[in-house]
Amino acid sequence: MDKMIIRGGAPLRGTVELSGSKNAALPCLIAALLTEEPLLIHNVPRLRDVRTSIDLLGRLGVVSRWTGDHDLELHARAITSHEAPYDLVKTMRASFLVLGPLLARTGRARVSTPGGCAIGARPVNLHIAGIRMLGARIQMRHGYVEAHAVNLRGARVWLDTSSVGATENIMMAAVRARGRTLIENAAREPEVQDLARLLKAMGARISGAGSHVIEIEGVERLGGAEHTVIPDRIEAGSLMIAAAVTGGDVVVRGAPLEHLEAVIAKLRETGATVEPVEGGLRVARGAALRPVELRTLPYPGFPTDLQAQMMALLTQAAGTSVITETIFENRFMHALELMRMGADIVMKGPTAVVRGPTALCGAPVMATDLRASMGLILAGLAAENSTELSRVYHLDRGYEALDAKLRALGAAVERVPGEEAA
Ligand code: EPZ
Repeated sequence: MDKMIIRGGAPLRGTVELSGSKNAALPCLIAALLTEEPLLIHNVPRLRDVRTSIDLLGRLGVVSRWTGDHDLELHARAITSHEAPYDLVKTMRASFLVLGPLLARTGRARVSTPGGCAIGARPVNLHIAGIRMLGARIQMRHGYVEAHAVNLRGARVWLDTSSVGATENIMMAAVRARGRTLIENAAREPEVQDLARLLKAMGARISGAGSHVIEIEGVERLGGAEHTVIPDRIEAGSLMIAAAVTGGDVVVRGAPLEHLEAVIAKLRETGATVEPVEGGLRVARGAALRPVELRTLPYPGFPTDLQAQMMALLTQAAGTSVITETIFENRFMHALELMRMGADIVMKGPTAVVRGPTALCGAPVMATDLRASMGLILAGLAAENSTELSRVYHLDRGYEALDAKLRALGAAVERVPGEEAA
């Protein structure tokens, strides 16, 4: 199991290019199940979760082929299995998204439920309730959701929580249902909008994606399409915070300004400079950082996927910051590791109080999920001496060539083979 060794202290400088969005790419790949014609998807990041999706889709009959570095062709001429097995769903929860499209294409699906997660309970009840509303018969047996539907039919679906995954799953079921579906309290995230854009290119009739009400008029069949995945706003935010935490000056090329407004506003509040430049955003920090209060919220609020990174930054701000996590109930595991590096953090329920600035001191650390790992890397970049991050496989799920990108900006980051078991 590889490790990452980070020697802190160097301000990051230069230009870095973003990859395509992981969380937009995964549902777009899965949408291939909806048509017997090929999809050609561009800007697909080379990540472990993408490989897991290709593997899962392969087991269902989808033939995938890289036609370029980041260009993937997917062809579901025939569906050969209806089952998403536990071994894949447990390693990648997004696998659960095959439920809607499999059901829409073939009338049946057997999908393992994902089980526990390192950041919170993350149930799938809203996915199931929504798809039931479209007329599917659903049973839970042996840890699997077994769904059947002769014909899905449009319905009015109200989501108790504006879940990204439930919105995507229901949307992919509804595009081939009979009649009109309304998803109310739908997630507004850019990744939902990107999926809607692909589905429309395939012939679906969808309006309102990006708002709280998505309207879908079912069609009989969908065709092939070509689509370019949006840039990764979470990778962008992570690299912007890297510039700020090291007192550097970085241009993040391809950073989607319109998807980052809450992040830009918070970074500016800390005293970092963020300015649009040709082709991206420039982030620099000269003066001392100021503390802030922040709450994670559904889009367009501050994303939970940047909370750990922001916590690392705020250990360097002069004063008391308050972070409230409102999306997931157990997403402060990184705080304990940051405290081992010298951070002054007190947690109470969904709130973490960070007092700074503290001199961070490199240590062996271990993360429980992807974004927590990134938070620890950022702390390592700001720390004295070396930090050794184990369980780098978490990073491989969602950051493409991260060590190379950071090195190109002047960071002393090295990936080495480690020995510990997963
Ligand atoms: C997506 O997860 C992302 N994953 C997550 O990114 C991201 O953190 C999350 O959205 C929030 O923005 C992908 O897109 C693949 P949700 P998702 O359903 O869809 C509750 C990363 O690091 N809920 O919007 O699973 C749920 O427990 C990952 O890249 C229900 O109660 O998130 C949570 O509290 C981690 N019942 C809230 O809704 C349900 O049926 C929002 O979750 C579904 C969700």
